[in-house]
Amino acid sequence: MNDLSLTSTRNRNCRNGLLLAALCLPTLIAHAQQPLKTLLVGVDRRSVTSLNGDWHYLVDQPPARSLYTSDGKIRDNGYALNTHPNIDSGPHNEEYDFATAPTLKVPGDWNTQDPTLFRFEGVVWYEHDFDFHAKPNSRTFLHFGAANYKSFVWVNQKRICDHEGGFTPFDCEVTAALKDGSNFVVVAVDSTREVDGIPSTGIDWFNYGGLTRDVSLVTLPTQFIDDYDVHLKRESTFSAVSADRLSGYIHVEGASAGTPVTLRVPEAGVNATLTTDADGRASFDLKTNKLELWSPATPKLYKVELASGQDKLTDDIGFRDIRVDGTRILLNGKAIFLQGANMHAEAPYRTGRACTDEDVKNIFGFLQDLNANFVRLAHYPHDERMERAADRDGIMIWSEIPLWQHISFEKPEVYAKAAFMLNEMIRRDRNKASVILWSVSNETPNNPVRTQFLTNLANEARKLDSTRLITSALLGPHAKGDEMVQDDPFANALDVVGQNEYIGWYDMRPEDADNIKWVLPQKPILISEFGAEAKQGVHGGKDQRWAEEQQVNVYEHQFVMINKIPQVRGLVPWILMDFRSPTRNIPKLQDGFNRKGLLSEDGKKKQAFYLFQKTYKEHSVGKPE
Ligand code: GCU
Repeated sequence: MNDLSLTSTRNRNCRNGLLLAALCLPTLIAHAQQPLKTLLVGVDRRSVTSLNGDWHYLVDQPPARSLYTSDGKIRDNGYALNTHPNIDSGPHNEEYDFATAPTLKVPGDWNTQDPTLFRFEGVVWYEHDFDFHAKPNSRTFLHFGAANYKSFVWVNQKRICDHEGGFTPFDCEVTAALKDGSNFVVVAVDSTREVDGIPSTGIDWFNYGGLTRDVSLVTLPTQFIDDYDVHLKRESTFSAVSADRLSGYIHVEGASAGTPVTLRVPEAGVNATLTTDADGRASFDLKTNKLELWSPATPKLYKVELASGQDKLTDDIGFRDIRVDGTRILLNGKAIFLQGANMHAEAPYRTGRACTDEDVKNIFGFLQDLNANFVRLAHYPHDERMERAADRDGIMIWSEIPLWQHISFEKPEVYAKAAFMLNEMIRRDRNKASVILWSVSNETPNNPVRTQFLTNLANEARKLDSTRLITSALLGPHAKGDEMVQDDPFANALDVVGQNEYIGWYDMRPEDADNIKWVLPQKPILISEFGAEAKQGVHGGKDQRWAEEQQVNVYEHQFVMINKIPQVRGLVPWILMDFRSPTRNIPKLQDGFNRKGLLSEDGKKKQAFYLFQKTYKEHSVGKPE
């Protein structure tokens, strides 16, 4: 899955064919931006009504009541009505009944819950009844942690909202649609991959569909805090002794200018009353006591109390400084080396989309056992529980939008989608100290249209959040004589460069890595993917593919190579755990799983796991400076 030679026909054609589009792309983008709908930050720190549990479901059945009408519109008078058949009625009774239909657990993908839906990719309708008792002067939202890939929501037969994107949260206001007493919600989730989707159609992971994360009802006062950013003030240079200022903003939806907002961080000696501007935003830059800074060694979190009018919210936030200095990555002014692993949101032991406390506890157990201080959450934002656990446990995170390999870079509407997802990712996690890197893509083809697209996206990320580093995982280098050259121009837009390569598995022999001369940008480099497949329990010689010993051999030669690259500041083997991928079909070896894990999907360690555990404990590969 890794094309080391960037001069392939594919890239050449792509480059020639799209040059013109590159020239007009920026102007096309201008009118493509979409306003961000309400997106509640800190929902997991509010008291909400959980709608998790059993939801009735049925698979979309064209043409009578299906989600899409024959002219491609969304049908509002089909299953969304949630009517019930009257068995004794005449010939035209409704021929479906959610109330007596089977159920799926929410959160959770449908693929691993119902064997008949294992490979299903399409539309599943969900229905759930719930009681509600309105409070005066309040607004109520349905909050979805994520749903893959497109969602269409009705409450009490009223169309509420749509959302595109399988890995980021969204909110739909239901205030006007709710009744006092019993209500119902119907959600159609379409998991179909689309050429103009993000990701597009070719992915190397399992396209788990459904309401894959928590669903809840959030009732708020008419003026409420929907967004905030509380971070250590970023000075031009970092000094630990002057780490005593917090800056950021609190946004109060529905507030007019001059509305009071209080910000309290008791342990930091902050107790401030702010006022909103005409946009409802209260900005601040406040002196604090000397702060205990967040780091893997001391993952200190502060209670941060926000309040405005009838609304209040308490979050747990860590304060730290992350920046680059030449080819070094500095955390709180100290050079660091990231010892980590990649991870898909695959649930250990049970497989399926990871979405529970249990899943997260298992994943972080593996990371602790590995002596890791870092994890790349590939290739999309994971469940918010992951960032919460990383904040608590002191694991740094690379967070990424699912812009994977080939997407429709030439289409402004696709840029708008990417920017929207980037907004959603950053908005949800900007207060999580563990997140140090925002990534805008993975392994995209090097051509002018794509480079312009991604450079705009990287700059958009910086505009949204000037306190973190921007990165991306680049495709392998190309050979130039006896050198491997990484001269992708997109690297110029990055603070940290992710370099994927599979020398010894997809390309060349493991021992060839020992003598490679790399030519890389003079920036911090993370080896953001490297490794080989091995079936856990298969043993043989170091050159026997699929044997655990072979996987170790690839890594041992990689370590020799990496120790010769001075600007490498992190190891991110692909991947912590084997994961489902329909493209991996060698019987008895893959059986539908990508086997590059250091662990099998049922948590069994391969020899390579112990190699990294020892390497990380001894810090024997790579240097922070
Ligand atoms: C690529 C890609 C991964 C994929 C991996 C592989 O680098 O980023 O998503 O799973 O290679 O081929 O195993």
